[in-house]
Amino acid sequence: MAYISIKQAMDKGSGKVSIRGWVHRERGSSKIKFIVLRDVSQTIQCVLKRDQFEKQWDDIDKLQVESSIKLSGTIKKDDRAPTGFEIQVDKFEIVGPSDSYPITKDTSIEHLADYRHLWLRSRKMTAILKIRSTVFAAIDEYFKGEGFYEYHSPIFQAVQCEGGSDLFTVDYFGKKDVFLAQTWQLYAEPAIFALEKIYTVSPSFRAEKSKTSRHLTEYWHAEMEMAWADFDDIIAHGEKLIKFIFKKVVDKHKADLESLGRDISKLMPIIKKPFKRMTYTEAVKILKDKCDYKVEWGKDLRTIEEDKLTSLYDVPVICTHYPKKVKAFYMTEDPKDKKVVLGCDFLAPEGHGEIIGGSQREHDIESIKQRLRDDGEDPLEYEFYLDTRKYGSVPHGGFGLGVERVIKWICGLDTIKDTIPFPRTMERYKP
Ligand code: 4AD
Ligand code: MG
Repeated sequence: MAYISIKQAMDKGSGKVSIRGWVHRERGSSKIKFIVLRDVSQTIQCVLKRDQFEKQWDDIDKLQVESSIKLSGTIKKDDRAPTGFEIQVDKFEIVGPSDSYPITKDTSIEHLADYRHLWLRSRKMTAILKIRSTVFAAIDEYFKGEGFYEYHSPIFQAVQCEGGSDLFTVDYFGKKDVFLAQTWQLYAEPAIFALEKIYTVSPSFRAEKSKTSRHLTEYWHAEMEMAWADFDDIIAHGEKLIKFIFKKVVDKHKADLESLGRDISKLMPIIKKPFKRMTYTEAVKILKDKCDYKVEWGKDLRTIEEDKLTSLYDVPVICTHYPKKVKAFYMTEDPKDKKVVLGCDFLAPEGHGEIIGGSQREHDIESIKQRLRDDGEDPLEYEFYLDTRKYGSVPHGGFGLGVERVIKWICGLDTIKDTIPFPRTMERYKP
């Protein structure tokens, strides 16, 4: 009989089924064995009676969690079983026996991180990784549907873009001015003159010395860049993209979200309501008036301030028009107020922090050069980039979305580390 998934077997609900998977839990006596079997789709209780398996009973009795197994039997509804169904087994085969599994009693964070390669099998990580897969698919579908081309930038890069302090330097055949990508941006802007609308989902690297629940040193970055775009076009795409991702995940993963204990009602406003837009200057005022919290105008918003601000709303805050000196050199000045730039941060509710950073790009070569010099950079290193402003420059802009931050938010997780199979942080790069 052909093997079906546990979920398919449960949908069938009665009669003969054949399934395969791994032993999630087991208990029993000298006469009967209860095995909770898991596969990617579900878990199910399977019952083996000794009198039917006299010859195999020694092996069945010694069976350990995580052994891989194939079995056939009769499925029926059973309200006492953990997932509402039970299989009375009549054929049973151990495919790969399991040693004593290292993750049973010790579930401390450090222990699970040491055994990350095994912890991936947990129901929690399985649910998160399924949602992660849908998030990546949704990003692709969104951009392709909006007429964007997928485009690829190098990971080895010769310039900084988001500030030199968090660059990873690579020993590149003895050359020391090679870095891992913080963003695709400086290598993406040249391509909008060919493809006009482009996107990517690719790893970015940040040597930030932050041990927070929001920072990875290696994360996946969904970025877009668009010719002929103004600031509002960029913001509108950011909002539409997030709504699109949330809708796909909610439609497909109700059970996974529930198994993670996620309150789905918190996700509905993201899909249904417009996001809250405000300028930095308004944000500073709201913090003062509604949170009784003073930020000196001109200082960047820190995590604590972002969290206070976003706690007022059930949708993301799109904060715009930040002071020029706290933002990157490539963001264009607001023509109406030269102290601020046309840059935006999307700040997620429930304390999940900055999800998107984007901007309208500066087009004036001399201003870019000056701001690079102000940052202590040598404009000569950026000549390839400055050429984009020399030969037929057009208004354009783009943004970057931290994919793991979105997954953390959708799943309602405490830490970003659980959103990625093998998290890389300041403290850990193994296994
Ligand atoms: O705000 P950032 O630094 O913007 C850029 O890199 C732009 N060049 C993007 C662009 O316009 N093409 O980073 C973008 C997003 C942040 O909003 C955040 O969600 C995520 O990347 N991010 C991180 N995610 C996980 N760990 C880190 N250390 C992150 N640093 C940034
Ligand atoms: Mg940012």
